[in-house]
Amino acid sequence: MNNFDFCSPTYFVFGKSRETETGKYVAKFGGKKVLIHYGGQSAIKSGLLERVKKSLDEEGILYVELGGVKPNPRSELVYEGISLCKKEQVDFILAVGGGSVIDSAKAIAMGIVYDGDFWDFFSGKSPVKALPIGTVLTISAAGSEGSENTVITKEDGMLKRGAGGDCLRPKFSILNPELTMTLPAYQTACGATDIMAHVFERYFTNTKDVEITDRLCEAVLMTMIKETPKAIKDPNDYGARANIMWAGMVAHNNIVGVGREQDWNSHGIEHELSALYDCAHGAGLAVIMPAWMSYVVEHHDCMRFAQMAVRVFGCEMDFENPKATALEGINAFKSFLSSIGMPVNFKELGARKEDIPTLVDKFGIGDGTTGGYVPLDKNAVTAIYELAV
Ligand code: NZQ
Ligand code: ZN
Repeated sequence: MNNFDFCSPTYFVFGKSRETETGKYVAKFGGKKVLIHYGGQSAIKSGLLERVKKSLDEEGILYVELGGVKPNPRSELVYEGISLCKKEQVDFILAVGGGSVIDSAKAIAMGIVYDGDFWDFFSGKSPVKALPIGTVLTISAAGSEGSENTVITKEDGMLKRGAGGDCLRPKFSILNPELTMTLPAYQTACGATDIMAHVFERYFTNTKDVEITDRLCEAVLMTMIKETPKAIKDPNDYGARANIMWAGMVAHNNIVGVGREQDWNSHGIEHELSALYDCAHGAGLAVIMPAWMSYVVEHHDCMRFAQMAVRVFGCEMDFENPKATALEGINAFKSFLSSIGMPVNFKELGARKEDIPTLVDKFGIGDGTTGGYVPLDKNAVTAIYELAV
């Protein structure tokens, strides 16, 4: 196990109706004038936004609002949010929504305390700093409610890029599983795929002696395999929604990734798909992750895949031919994704083989390599997109 620092300071407020306490938590963390940031229609239709405002009113907290965050959030709305917040002297950002809303809120929080272009944080020109943020989560997926990351797409060139730093971890996150009951089955499945991918990016490591985090990873994966079909079958299954919601946080606040080298190539390769086609991040991952596995298992000792197959998917270990077990595990993962309604190839996603050179170019590794488990060069990334076709 490698040396590590781990600080996950977010205060989690979990359970039924907890959004009615939003105002109390904004006050606890020093917010006096808040930007309520939200997405399209879901938080308005469900009445969530009204409940949140009522709770702020009860605490005497002032607010301005900015809705309209789209999935794969864009820089244009971030710029609008920054100038609104500067004008209104907002001191706290409250995200009401999913990963896209939270990421947009994090980017606004960064831009407010910075005189230059907020994109500097995403191109590595400036160390990250930000105003405090809080979240009321409505979809279990990206894990941004506990993570130190934000991912934004800049319209100019449709560049989808991330920024990260401890100050981006929310001060508090309100997790009410009931709020996810209005999700369409497709979004539930996209979220589940993303949660599993966050674990796999950490599970496939070259670091030795990481049994504790291996076992935590496996627990999250097995929970997702058990609970996701239940939530899809019965969207109002509180138990399933609750397990998935906490799994989504555990998968990405890095508790399952400490002390080990991580990979993250599948995410990088996927981000180009959601940037180009505006598809859901989870759907893109359902196409890329199995293709990445199929490529990598041929270029690395297969034992970690065999371990996943046995411990997570219940395959029987073939000691004579562990590669066969590894491949069985990858197939089991792909079948699981299909069974929850995810696309597993370019055609099902609506992606085009002709775009592969553009995708590889935009991924932008030049003549170098990237990733932790098996470093990939341009040819390898091309091969993975081709396997995904
Ligand atoms: O805009 P509304 O109307 O709310 O609709 C949203 C949106 O269309 C809908 N939705 C959300 N909650 C709902 C609901 N519909 C009905 N009932 C509810 N309760 O779901 C759709 C997807 O929402 P979105 O926020 O885009 O989903 P997700 O949480 O998957 O976020 C995806 C974004 O997060 C980034 C992705 O790249 C993508 O841009 N990621 C962020 C990470 C991070 N910050 O740590 C890590 C991830 O790997 C990921 O890259
Ligand atoms: Zn993700």
